[in-house]
Amino acid sequence: LHVTLPLAALGYLSGTWLGAMTVCRLARLPDPRVTGSCNPGFSNVLRQYGVQLALATLIIDATKGWPVLILGMIMQLPPWGLGLIGLGVLLGHCYPAWYRFRGGKAVASAFGVMLLLTPGVALICAAIWALLAWRIHTAAIASLASATLAPLVSLWLSPDFAWVVLIFALLVLVRHALNIHRLHQGKEPKL
Ligand code: G3P
Repeated sequence: LHVTLPLAALGYLSGTWLGAMTVCRLARLPDPRVTGSCNPGFSNVLRQYGVQLALATLIIDATKGWPVLILGMIMQLPPWGLGLIGLGVLLGHCYPAWYRFRGGKAVASAFGVMLLLTPGVALICAAIWALLAWRIHTAAIASLASATLAPLVSLWLSPDFAWVVLIFALLVLVRHALNIHRLHQGKEPKL
């Protein structure tokens, strides 16, 4: 625990780097927290500013936790230790101290953490996300469905990480409360 907790704290710090903020600042575009869905994430950047900037956002958010996670892997931490670092990354993304604890919805960051810890689950979830986003044109539905299925896929492919994936999924669902409300009202924006 004396190694894992400091690494989880470092994970939190790396998670607070919001890709959407950096990308929009570099492109001299308005703050993604005040345009569109007001979410600093891949989907909002995609809707507002197009594929290229959205991909840049995705790459930053998905990989920002990798250095700390790789350190944990080199130190041969058990799955729960790596999971705790991953949770740190996601909490940093959702609740960044520097942005008054108002961050993103953890979809891209959870994908990135899982890509390293349990790649099969990450790729299947990404395929589900892409398929639904393509067919239904609604990012939140794709995210909610992927998050719901992720723990089951993990139970099947890598049970060691199933509890980690379950916590990630719950966090993603909680962060989509506003989207669920908008979906009910039929006001969720299309991709
Ligand atoms: O990836 C986050 C997505 O599920 C929802 O984002 O901008 O549509 O609220 P947004």
